[in-house]
Amino acid sequence: MGSRGNSVLAVVFLLLFAGNVEVIGQSSGLRVGFYSRSCRNVEPIVRGVVQRFLGRDRTVTAALLRLFFHDCFGCDASLLLNSTRTNRSEKEHGANGSVRGYDLIDAAKAEVERQCRGVVSCADIVALATRDSIALAGGPDYPVPTGRRDGRISIVNDADVLPDPNSNANGAIQAFANKGLTPQDLVLLLGAHTVGITHCGFFRHRLFNFRGTGRADPSMDPALVRQLQRACTSDSVEVFLDQGTPFRVDKVFFDQLVSNRAILIIDQQLRVEQRTDDIVRALANGTLNFNAAFAQSMTNMGNLDVLTGTRGEIRRVCSAVN
Ligand code: HEM
Repeated sequence: MGSRGNSVLAVVFLLLFAGNVEVIGQSSGLRVGFYSRSCRNVEPIVRGVVQRFLGRDRTVTAALLRLFFHDCFGCDASLLLNSTRTNRSEKEHGANGSVRGYDLIDAAKAEVERQCRGVVSCADIVALATRDSIALAGGPDYPVPTGRRDGRISIVNDADVLPDPNSNANGAIQAFANKGLTPQDLVLLLGAHTVGITHCGFFRHRLFNFRGTGRADPSMDPALVRQLQRACTSDSVEVFLDQGTPFRVDKVFFDQLVSNRAILIIDQQLRVEQRTDDIVRALANGTLNFNAAFAQSMTNMGNLDVLTGTRGEIRRVCSAVN
């Protein structure tokens, strides 16, 4: 097919796709273009800040994706709140210990506030900035429904709902189902491990003494085992989660899963359950389009437990309630 045919197809796809996302957004009270009258430049402002940060540091995409996930088991920017004298906030939870990207969100919020005071929530800025960092790393550039408001409560133990990196596929499927996400969402969202790092401490047991056998995990490619055994001289060493293209948002992570080259147990576990393995294989062989499906699952996650209407508030700064 000629390039004209391709571009017609691309437009049809984008229209269908944008329409789809908006319907899903609307069911949660969010909609694409929520700020089109009240702060029409919000999206270019946020993208500009992400571009600036990414120019200095290629790990920004990983930082924002993880921050978005850890906030979004309740997408109300409660993760951004600092502890106070009387309350320990979610930030203090062990699972959030290595979450980064707060500085970028604060910078974007400050620039947005200069143009539109008290209008745009921190929760929406997180959702937009994450999308921008994905698009700028070669992933999908998808419409983000907005209209989230910021929570006033952040309790350290609320982060207990985050799944354990050593849980099995069923445990993770259940944790996601509790939030209304499907096994397909789980597979696609773990696809965020297409960027970023993990500390050796999270998977070292797979290399040396798997389940007390004194040997490496037999489900890991032996060449990768040898490479990681050399690299992981201590628990604090960092290695890429995607050993192929660690700074690009693409489907290569799923190619690696099919080749038994996942680093974290939770990622390799997707191969164990038939219902998740079918999706992994479809993504690897291209019968399921990674970009479209990833954007859809990110949108689904971005709708979780949002505050809209008159609930919550629009914070003046993201680290403290008004
Ligand atoms: C069952 C669910 C999940 C588990 C158990 C899990 C676990 C982990 C662990 C253990 C790390 C390494 C952290 C470190 O060493 O500091 C990590 C990193 C990361 N996770 Fe997940 N994750 C899950 C789902 C997700 C989801 C849904 C996303 C985003 C949509 C995500 C995005 C990331 C990113 C981007 C990194 C790299 C962070 C960086 O380089 O700073 N994860 N994850």
